[in-house]
Amino acid sequence: MKPTFLIGFMGSGKTTIAQLLADDFVDLDTVIVDKIGMSISDFFETFGEAKFRELETETLKNLSKTNQIISTGGGIVMSEENRRFLKDADVNVIYLEGDFDELYERILADKENIRPVAMSHTREALFDIYQHRVDLYDSIATHKIHVTGKTPEEIVKEIQL
Ligand code: S3P
Repeated sequence: MKPTFLIGFMGSGKTTIAQLLADDFVDLDTVIVDKIGMSISDFFETFGEAKFRELETETLKNLSKTNQIISTGGGIVMSEENRRFLKDADVNVIYLEGDFDELYERILADKENIRPVAMSHTREALFDIYQHRVDLYDSIATHKIHVTGKTPEEIVKEIQL
């Protein structure tokens, strides 16, 4: 199987689905956290978002050489370099597409993941970011699965690689 990247907005279930698809899945954010030795929100606070995006690009490029199922952070599509890389590589890119209302509820309910991009914006501002990103996810996806109202098991069944 080709390397398979899961993309989508925060709260769309990328890590959960990757976990169900393969025991040896890799979560890009976890690789970054292991590398930097601090949480993503602490890193944002100390070094800023731009530095995080640099690390994200570097990690993305390294991972695509080795691993089969990779969940990415919701902002991976913000960089043109990342989009070009994923589009040109011979990989599957699965976009987990969800309605904003549901994603927002999940982000708020998730006490384990402190997401600096969500924390630093109002609901309205986050909706603008969502709308902007939706087109970017679409532009690089090889597969698209609508996730709203579905269980992780239902979503996995729909993923045909
Ligand atoms: C981000 C999403 C997060 C993480 C970072 C930035 C974003 O990942 O990479 O906090 O810009 O959307 P999840 O999509 O897994 O929450």
